[in-house]
Amino acid sequence: MVVIRKEETTDRASVLQLLHDAFGRWDESDLVKQLYLDEDVIFGLVAEEEGKIIGHILFSLVEISTDQLFLEAAALAPLAVHPQRQKEGIGTKLINEGLLICRNKEELTGMIVLGNPDYYQRFGFSSELGAHLDAPFKNESFMALEFRSGILPKNAKVKYAAAFGL
Ligand SMILES: CC(C)(COP(=O)(O)OP(=O)(O)OC[C@H]1O[C@@H](n2cnc3c(N)ncnc32)[C@H](O)[C@@H]1OP(=O)(O)O)[C@@H](O)C(=O)NCCC(=O)NCCS
Repeated sequence: MVVIRKEETTDRASVLQLLHDAFGRWDESDLVKQLYLDEDVIFGLVAEEEGKIIGHILFSLVEISTDQLFLEAAALAPLAVHPQRQKEGIGTKLINEGLLICRNKEELTGMIVLGNPDYYQRFGFSSELGAHLDAPFKNESFMALEFRSGILPKNAKVKYAAAFGL
C-alpha cells in the first residue's frame, strides 16, 4: 500500500536519489538540498511503499508583495514519482495531501507552480491567475491557486526562495 507521509531528515538520501531517477539529472536534488540549507522549506511529503520512497513533493516559502501588502504563499516544486510508478495516481495523492496541509496553515494565502497546465489545472491551479502576478515566468506554465478567493493582489511581486536562483 502506498502511504503519504511527511518527509523526515532520514529520508533525504532516498529523496535525492528519487529526484535524480525521475528527472534524469541532479539539478532538482541540488535545489532541494539548498532549500533545506536555507531553511526555506515549508515541508516535504513522501510516498512510501514497503519502506521504499517512490514519490516526493516539496513546498517552499514564496513572498508575494505589493507596496502596501506582504503575503506568504507556497511554491510547489519539485514533484517526482519514480519512473516505474508513474500514472498510478501517486503524484495526484502527493499534491492533494500537500494542498490540504497548506490550506490549513493560516499564514499561507495560496500556492504557485511551474508545470504543465493539463496536469495542474485539475487541482485548481490557473494560468490566468498566474498571469496577473508579477512573476519571473511569463507563460501559461506559471500557475497560481488562491486559498481564499481574491486574496492575491493583481500585479503583486512573486519572490521565490533564493535557491531557485531567479
Ligand atoms: C509529473 C509526475 C510527477 C506525475 O506523477 P504521476 O504519479 O505519474 O501522476 P498521476 O498518476 O497522479 O497523474 C497521471 C495523469 O497526469 C498526466 N500527466 C502526468 N505527467 C504529466 C505531464 N508532465 N504533463 C501532462 N500530464 C501529465 C497523465 O497523463 C495522467 O493523466 P490522466 O489522469 O488524464 O490519465 C511524474 O510523471 C514525474 O515524476 N515525472 C518526471 C518528473 C517531472 O517531470 N516532474 C515535473 C512536475 S512539474
